[in-house]
Amino acid sequence: MASHVNRIAVLAGDGIGPEVMGATMLVAKELEKKHGLQLEWKEGWVGGAAIDAKGKALPDETVELCRSAKAVLFGSVGGPKWENLPPNEQPERAALLPLRKIFGLYANLRPAVLYPELVKCSPLHPDRVAGGFDLLVVRELTGGLYFGQPKETTKTARGERAVDTMVYETHEIERVAEVAFRAASFRKKRVTLADKANVLETSLLWRKVVRGVAARHPAITLDFIYADNAAMQLVRDPGRFDVLLCENLFGDMLSDQAAAVAGSLGMLPSASLGEGSFGLYEPAGGSAPDIAGKGVANPIAQILSLALLCEMSLGQPEAAESIRQAVAGAIREGWRTADLAVAGEKKVGTQEIAKEIARRVALGRGKG
Ligand code: IPM
Ligand code: MN
Repeated sequence: MASHVNRIAVLAGDGIGPEVMGATMLVAKELEKKHGLQLEWKEGWVGGAAIDAKGKALPDETVELCRSAKAVLFGSVGGPKWENLPPNEQPERAALLPLRKIFGLYANLRPAVLYPELVKCSPLHPDRVAGGFDLLVVRELTGGLYFGQPKETTKTARGERAVDTMVYETHEIERVAEVAFRAASFRKKRVTLADKANVLETSLLWRKVVRGVAARHPAITLDFIYADNAAMQLVRDPGRFDVLLCENLFGDMLSDQAAAVAGSLGMLPSASLGEGSFGLYEPAGGSAPDIAGKGVANPIAQILSLALLCEMSLGQPEAAESIRQAVAGAIREGWRTADLAVAGEKKVGTQEIAKEIARRVALGRGKG
């Protein structure tokens, strides 16, 4: 058999990153065997760990490693140890934002799924989420207030003046909207654009461009919602959304909210994509320094990030599906990490639940 090496850059980072990544590798090994994948996993430094080891949060060698890879499996970065560094040197700003920009990862997909068995974990009243829900936030990731120029703090006669700039051009909106419509075509065929078209110029442009993209996708329904109202609807009736499309900052906030109503940040993966198949895959939650090193973190977000990687960067939808089935099976059978266990339920650790998921992947079954 011709050997075709698919290199994956593994950047575990800080906090719970290394332990959930370790747990995910247990699943990856079984997946490789089961689906005949030939993957080459290459670890690199990132975040606070990279500051300590190499002097900066995103060393050049890590960027080169990512460049040489098909995809990046990313853990999480940041923690109290690096919080007193100047803002531009802190792990989040100095590692994650440049990675997104360097690799042109303009579309961030954040699925928020509430499994029916985990309805009790949602902070919402069970009546509002009975049966669970499944929505996808598509967030623009390389524009808007995060990167717009000018971005600066200057001295004035009365003190200081700080500026961030929200700027979007047609092509930046068009390409991410295209991703949202394509995603909707495999789902419930509905795109909702969250904006502030009652206030912002950029939102008016978003509406105009997104309408244009919608015209190319007649099978998909498009509607609009003000972002503040979207925040409210997410806690009233999250099931009303299918694909929620947002500019960068609205997407940042609304995706956290979607994640929270889905029960636990520990369950939610994300994919950041650009042109082509390269992507960066990471859990939606952060580095959770408060529980790091204790072996109790939920590795499912990282494991499901691997599933997204298989599907979107490797073209292996069956491998992705077998991970999802294994996760759903473990949840159905009552496997719960601390974040998921409600009173009286038995808690298992990071490694234990990962081993169970890996076992199910190896058996090729989600059930029983
Ligand atoms: C996220 C994070 C980042 C963001 C931070 C860490 C820079 O909150 O990925 O959602 O704001 O994009
Ligand atoms: Mn965020």
